[in-house]
Amino acid sequence: MDRKEEHVILIGFMGSGKSSTGVALSYRLQRTVLDTDKLIEKQEGRSISEIFRKEGEAYFRERETALLRELKKEKAKQIFSTGGGMPLREENRALLSELGTVVYLSVSPETVYERLKGDTTRPLLQGDNPLQKIKTLLAEREEFYRQAADMVIRSDGKNTTQVADEIMELL
Ligand code: S3P
Repeated sequence: MDRKEEHVILIGFMGSGKSSTGVALSYRLQRTVLDTDKLIEKQEGRSISEIFRKEGEAYFRERETALLRELKKEKAKQIFSTGGGMPLREENRALLSELGTVVYLSVSPETVYERLKGDTTRPLLQGDNPLQKIKTLLAEREEFYRQAADMVIRSDGKNTTQVADEIMELL
């Protein structure tokens, strides 16, 4: 089956460019892009930061899994950009691959650090020594991203246009 005929799902670490790449792909594939963080914020009527602060990370992870189950009902083919922790649960990895073509945007810790310096919207990167936090989390997660992925695109040193064009060639 032509992979362009399926949902395209972008996974990867915070700051890997999933949202901007999703928008660039939406023009190329002529379809809508849905962002799982934004959908959860809309359903909950509050920000990701507030959800983490008031309910904790485990609650947010439950909301992510519930959302993936809902997205399986989407008939029209879409692009989904996902939160950086989406592929951590085994159940989510299975749901992601049932959903469509999973594209992993891989990125170095240094690039993430440069892109997200000063960002206050990612609860997991707040506090002292964000670069170390990024390195630790990325090392823990790399294997899960790769397990979930149908294809891997390196995003370091590339702009959104280049990344989106590479994905189009591989689809
Ligand atoms: C998270 C990534 C965030 C958001 C939440 C947790 C993570 O999404 O889902 O802060 O665990 O990596 P982005 O990857 O869009 O920043």
